[in-house]
Amino acid sequence: MVTILVGGQWGDEGKGKIIDLLSERAGMVIRSQGGNNAGHTVVSHGQEFRFHLIPSGILYPSTTCVIGNGVVLDPRVLLEEMDHVQARGVSVDHLVISDRAHMIMPWHPILDQLEEGQRGDDRLGTTWRGIGPAYADKVRRIGFRVGDLQKPRFLQKKLEFVLGKVVNPLLQDLYRVAPLDRDQILATYAAYGERLDPFIQDIFPLIQGALNRRDNILLEGAQGSMLDLDFGTYPYVTSSSPSAGGALTGSGIPPSRVDTTIGVYKAFSTRVGYGPMPTELVDATGDRIREVGKEYGTTTGRARRVGWFDAVVARYTVALNGIGSIALTKLDVLDGVDPIRICAAYRRKGVLHDHPMSNISHLKHCEPVYEELSGWQASTRAARRAADLPDAARRYIARVAELSGAPVEVVSVGPGREETLWMKEPSLAGLAREAR
Ligand code: GDP
Ligand code: IMO
Ligand code: MG
Repeated sequence: MVTILVGGQWGDEGKGKIIDLLSERAGMVIRSQGGNNAGHTVVSHGQEFRFHLIPSGILYPSTTCVIGNGVVLDPRVLLEEMDHVQARGVSVDHLVISDRAHMIMPWHPILDQLEEGQRGDDRLGTTWRGIGPAYADKVRRIGFRVGDLQKPRFLQKKLEFVLGKVVNPLLQDLYRVAPLDRDQILATYAAYGERLDPFIQDIFPLIQGALNRRDNILLEGAQGSMLDLDFGTYPYVTSSSPSAGGALTGSGIPPSRVDTTIGVYKAFSTRVGYGPMPTELVDATGDRIREVGKEYGTTTGRARRVGWFDAVVARYTVALNGIGSIALTKLDVLDGVDPIRICAAYRRKGVLHDHPMSNISHLKHCEPVYEELSGWQASTRAARRAADLPDAARRYIARVAELSGAPVEVVSVGPGREETLWMKEPSLAGLAREAR
């Protein structure tokens, strides 16, 4: 059984929490795109873990956690993360890294920051983790793959060319900054290679084996569909495909093997970085949601922009990914917000639009058409079944599902594992309980 899980908005929807919930019954969890621009939070037995590269299934020792070929991996960050979780008593013996994954090299974060500086007022608000430059090098075929760590002479030769002919001239001649030292990089990456060697392999046979055994495989999306390089608000996007298609190319799983796609959505909208966000709230309600929801970036600590639930976005990303069920998170953050609005359509120059326009200047200037629903005053934190929720909360969830075009099967009312409602059976809960 193959399940793809994607973020349906602009990232930080709570994917980590949902992956952790489903991982208990998964034989394998795979990260297939992005890098340490991601920050996925899991709260288990009151302990909070923030994963940037390690798949969020790592807390289950018998779940194989794979960093797939589509990821751009910063070895320094991965090793720090491995040390950190091990120090907290979590084994990483079940971690596997694809030798085809590309690496973040020391110049990638530098170029990310320099390029952002050049853009001035038009900057994208990237995470400065080097994601865009690393994917650009992959596409230009001058990227370094994790498997290169196991071929020191090849690595040295390639570094001679890439650093000497491409990177250092760019740093010195265009940006007027100091060149990077080849021997130092070689020594650093040799040390990374030594430590990572036991984890690196060609994941093709591993994944084929899991498919043949019909294991439960979970594909853990990073970012969200509105940050998709093709279908997001280009150029205010990330440099990978966080949509369902990217999960497949980033892992080598064929489309015909996918059983279900889950979309994770927050009960409102957030966005980090620049770019259009039609339902953004720049008022006291927005501030309140940000504070109650602790909407500050898991990776960069930046304040997230906050807005009403945008069903135009949700309808689009449900359709784009073929989402069969929605996990709706952070419903509790709306406790006491009254009334609550949902954006049902956009209006531009008097014309209604039911999906986000590809032209972002149109998107920037469209006006959200809102439906207003009653809020609820009671806390939802203790709810464990649909029947425990206030009527108004149930009406809100039903309207989100109707406008988005997919059933809401999981509702999250707090960061903890147990703060979760499975809305109907058979459901994702059933899927999660299936034999490995
Ligand atoms: P991800 O990138 O999609 O995994 O999401 P992040 O971890 O970056 O951000 C989600 C944040 O919301 C984390 O701090 C979670 O612990 C927290 N969270 C997840 N679900 C809920 C929920 O239902 N209610 C509340 N209050 N917090 C939640
Ligand atoms: P998770 O997996 C939210 C955003 C950045 C910026 C844009 C491009 O935790 O949901 P990049 O560094 O990728 O080139 O930045 O994408 N961004 C995210 N926003 N959650 C994420 O990941 C993000 N990863 C990238 O803020 O606007
Ligand atoms: Mg996040």
